[in-house]
Amino acid sequence: MSETSLSALSSESRRFDPPAGLAAAANVTADAYKHAAEDRSGFWAEQAGRLTWERPWDTVLDWQPPFATWFGGGRLNVSVNCLDRHVEAGLGDRVAYHWVGEPQEDRRTITYAELLAEVSKAAHALTELGVEAGDRVCIYLPMIPEAAIAMLACARIGAAHSVVFGGFSAQALIDRITDADAKLVITSDGGYRRGAPSALKPAVDEAVAQCPSVQNVLVVRRTGQDVAWGAKDLWWHDLVDHQPSTHSPEAFDAEQPLFLLYTSGTTGKPKGILHTSGGYLTQVAWTHWAVFDLKPETDVYWCTADVGWVTGHSYTVYGPLANAATSVLYEGTPDAGGKDRWWSIVEEFKVSILYTAPTAIRTFMKWGDELPRGRDLSSLRVLGSVGEPINPEAWMWYREVIGGGRCPIVDTWWQTETGAMMIAPLPGVTSCKPGSAMGPLPGISVDVVDHDGHGVGETGGGYLTLDEPWPAMLRGIWNDEQRFRDTYWSKFAGRYFAGDGAKWDENHVLWLLGRVDDVMNISGHRISTTEVESALVSHPSVAEAAVVGAADDTTGQAIVAFVTLTAAATAQDVGEPLLKDLRDHVAKEIGPIAKPKQIVIAPELPKTRSGKIMRRLLVDIAERRELGDVTTLADPTVVSAINDTMGAAVDGR
Ligand code: WTA
Repeated sequence: MSETSLSALSSESRRFDPPAGLAAAANVTADAYKHAAEDRSGFWAEQAGRLTWERPWDTVLDWQPPFATWFGGGRLNVSVNCLDRHVEAGLGDRVAYHWVGEPQEDRRTITYAELLAEVSKAAHALTELGVEAGDRVCIYLPMIPEAAIAMLACARIGAAHSVVFGGFSAQALIDRITDADAKLVITSDGGYRRGAPSALKPAVDEAVAQCPSVQNVLVVRRTGQDVAWGAKDLWWHDLVDHQPSTHSPEAFDAEQPLFLLYTSGTTGKPKGILHTSGGYLTQVAWTHWAVFDLKPETDVYWCTADVGWVTGHSYTVYGPLANAATSVLYEGTPDAGGKDRWWSIVEEFKVSILYTAPTAIRTFMKWGDELPRGRDLSSLRVLGSVGEPINPEAWMWYREVIGGGRCPIVDTWWQTETGAMMIAPLPGVTSCKPGSAMGPLPGISVDVVDHDGHGVGETGGGYLTLDEPWPAMLRGIWNDEQRFRDTYWSKFAGRYFAGDGAKWDENHVLWLLGRVDDVMNISGHRISTTEVESALVSHPSVAEAAVVGAADDTTGQAIVAFVTLTAAATAQDVGEPLLKDLRDHVAKEIGPIAKPKQIVIAPELPKTRSGKIMRRLLVDIAERRELGDVTTLADPTVVSAINDTMGAAVDGR
């Protein structure tokens, strides 16, 4: 983030108090901060009491940095907490999901009783396929109810799921299946994208051919498109539908692995972030209830995140279901069937809590106020934001145009690794500044530190660290303890380093300043520069690649790649076809989401005398700012050569 935006942030003086009515009836009051600060583990034990345990825990927390055991000795079943106990409490007829397919008329309403029956059948089916507690199951599905059903069925039998975002490529799938040693893949023929069926199964077929660990592929029929059929393939409707609709689940240890979710790090290989059961569910359930002020009897909640990302895990599936909430689940893109599709969904289902990402908000700003203004959004009462810093301008637009000036906005900072929200206002308590996530939630402790790990005090900027363990914290990186220690716990001894910069302003209000490492944030999704660089270099025409994230009005950051070509490729007449080929190659290696927005063919990359690529400089070039210090640059003429070739770059995804 630039110097000017830093100073602009610290001058933000607007404040928005909680609406009086909401504050008066709020689930959580200011006392929670004091109470949690006095007895952090007591506070979390109280929140764990929101869940149903088959056996109570012996100890709340055993902390052997960097390894935590939360609620040790306790036993529970996550799916029972999300389903059975609500049905037993008489809530079987409550809607769990209003599912909205991408095609206009596609609807499915699923009550808690129905969801329990579906999950029970799927659990029997997994068992029939030989999936056991402790195994890993890969889920590669569009946003259809079976995605949540499959996740809960895994949880029910104690298997860990590894959901892979449907936009990832076969190669990404191979890497994730192989690392997790997954036994089963659950997928579909395809899903709908912008009005047309888009295939999913071919990527699975390609992956399974290279992944001997996979014994079966369970295929949901969604689009009805033709699919190739192999010996390991089974239709979901053939196997699951005839299973018994009741299932007696076993309780598992609080630390039973619940899921792996792969996320980008600063080196090429994605990391399998491991989450477990009791602590995770405690924190997602509590934060979902507290931060959205959820009233499960009356609210209709909609988290727009795909289940392929952590937000979809914690706040589309586990948090809302643990709280017996009614949610909307939407399959499509924001513009499918019209650019006011989201607002028509809010109107139709009377959505009262909306949780989405700044990149979407900025897109809607561009599309104009008329679309949301043409719909009745008066049901909304709380708005949430996640995934990247929300700029004050977008925050104000969200508040005024979507929230009608009456809804508090909760900007929530957290990560795949934290599992649940960490920094956020409480809607009935906090007087919010536009663009700020305000401060740590009750029970959470953060410390902004300087280079040497010293706290910066009440005001000032530095590195964001978490200096106390929290229940939903990652328990490790799958199969790689050393990387877990190195990545998160070695920069500042004994504390978790999140990779983000942060700053306390003059009112001791916290501002998140984005990543300080080589991880880009594209539309709220983390992609590492190295990952894209490796993909580019694996193309036969590329000699060297340097990838940076450049500021982008809509997506937060955009991927800009600088590449040098091999002598053979240089000798040929390159031009547009090669650029297209490179972008397609990245899409094939990682997924369309990682396609560079711009590729610059450069004669050379700017390097320091020690041979390190000067990324800062490339960011400046990509953003066309005045150049920073180039005195350490080995060959300063490289910069002007790159600037000259910027004209030859292609734009657009
Ligand atoms: C960024 C998404 C500012 C941050 C839940 C973090 C945010 C990364 C915010 C994690 C926010 C997420 N304000 N930045 N409210 N929320 N981030 O793992 O850089 O996909 O480290 O988890 O997103 O991304 P992840």
